[in-house]
Amino acid sequence: MAHAVFLILAVIATWTLWRGFVRPAMPPARSAFDTRHDVDTDGEIFVGQLGMPADIAAQAERYMPTEEGLLEVAVAFAGIEPTRFSFVDLGCGKGRPLILAAQLRFRRLIGVEIVPALADIARANLARLGVAAEVHTGDAARFVFPPEPVVLFLFNPFKAATIGAVIEALRAARSPELVVIYHAPEHGKLLDASGFLTRLGSPRGWGGRRGVAVWRGTGKLASGVARDTGPPC
Ligand SMILES: C[S@@+](CC[C@H](N)C(=O)[O-])C[C@H]1O[C@@H](n2cnc3c(N)ncnc32)[C@H](O)[C@@H]1O
Repeated sequence: MAHAVFLILAVIATWTLWRGFVRPAMPPARSAFDTRHDVDTDGEIFVGQLGMPADIAAQAERYMPTEEGLLEVAVAFAGIEPTRFSFVDLGCGKGRPLILAAQLRFRRLIGVEIVPALADIARANLARLGVAAEVHTGDAARFVFPPEPVVLFLFNPFKAATIGAVIEALRAARSPELVVIYHAPEHGKLLDASGFLTRLGSPRGWGGRRGVAVWRGTGKLASGVARDTGPPC
């Protein structure tokens, strides 16, 4: 009996030491993506560690890179030709989706990231690979969409209020075609309720809260369709 108790205590002590001291001290394994491209996109950085202003932090989600393969599957599902579209990643982090979008041959690449250090890493990654992308340091809620066909990529970057601001910016966009690819679509219902975006669904095997969902919308310039009654500007 005493032996059994000693054994259980020894197992608990070893497990606690491993979880508490040994494993945290070990360098995390580098992803296949970063190894192959020799870039730095790995890591999970919680909001409290990102050094954002309090009002932004209250709306933000942590940094984590998108999983490889997801963007390609979502673009195929949307049935679009990337060379006709500008790719916009709001909350672009270290720029992994911009690298993937370059490989898919999008015509223009734009990233917006609120954390200056992450935006700098994205720029360094893209420069290292010779990818021409515009990376802006700033709040995605203030982004003005360019008047061209746009694929907006979101990997659960922020909470409902900022998603709402982005939807209003999309509503005001003078883009002839809009596609939204939303990874981990926590606030997908807000897009459904927008009145101008139609959910196409999810690629087979990529549904659910951790998967990806795709919407299509018509911008103001398409087929003479105007969504508001205000004067043209
Ligand atoms: C889950 S990460 C996704 C990073 C990248 N899009 C990817 O898929 O690899 C979300 C990112 O959104 C950024 N973010 C959060 N709130 C933001 C805001 N208001 N404006 C711009 N970026 C924001 C975070 O700093 C973080 O880097």
